[in-house]
Amino acid sequence: MRNDIERVLIDEAVIEKRLDSMAREIERDFPEETLLVIILLKGALVFAADLLRRVSGPLEIECLNVASYHGGTESSGKVDFLDRQFPEVRGRQVLLLDDILDTGRTLHAVERRLKEEGALAVRTGVLLAKEKQRAEEVQADYIGFGIGDEFVVGYGLDYNGKYRNLPYVGVLKLSAAV
Ligand code: XMP
Repeated sequence: MRNDIERVLIDEAVIEKRLDSMAREIERDFPEETLLVIILLKGALVFAADLLRRVSGPLEIECLNVASYHGGTESSGKVDFLDRQFPEVRGRQVLLLDDILDTGRTLHAVERRLKEEGALAVRTGVLLAKEKQRAEEVQADYIGFGIGDEFVVGYGLDYNGKYRNLPYVGVLKLSAAV
């Protein structure tokens, strides 16, 4: 897999250090509230697992399956909710975690749905945020790293289902994106 990577953008040690400080930010913002953390599958799995083990306050975890990319490197522009049942969020303080903020459509659509379903408050956290013009007006409350507008893989992010288990975030070689 390493041969398919053009360059490592953020290595494991740097990610781990940033996760420590993100966890402190979350603890500071929710000192005693039992948070309901919603993890967007599958991209946010690795990030969420590593982040949440660093948070000492009480929390519960739910997962949501949404799709906006359908295999390639371009957003489809439409966000599909794939689960048969939506988690019970009424009256809860929700922390929504995703791998990357790109066009903003995913976070925007999920945040809106959470509010429609009665969540008391919704905060959002992403490992990566592309620094670009977004299709939807949305901001994450917790951002691991700002990155340029290029397609990245690793640390949960995939290309056609591969590379999620790379321990770093890297840019895919053009020759590997076929
Ligand atoms: P939007 O455009 O809705 O994007 O903000 C969020 C979802 O799109 C996927 N995405 C990527 N996946 N490398 C990936 O592996 C990328 O560079 C990338 N950009 C967007 C991702 O699933 C994210 O949740």
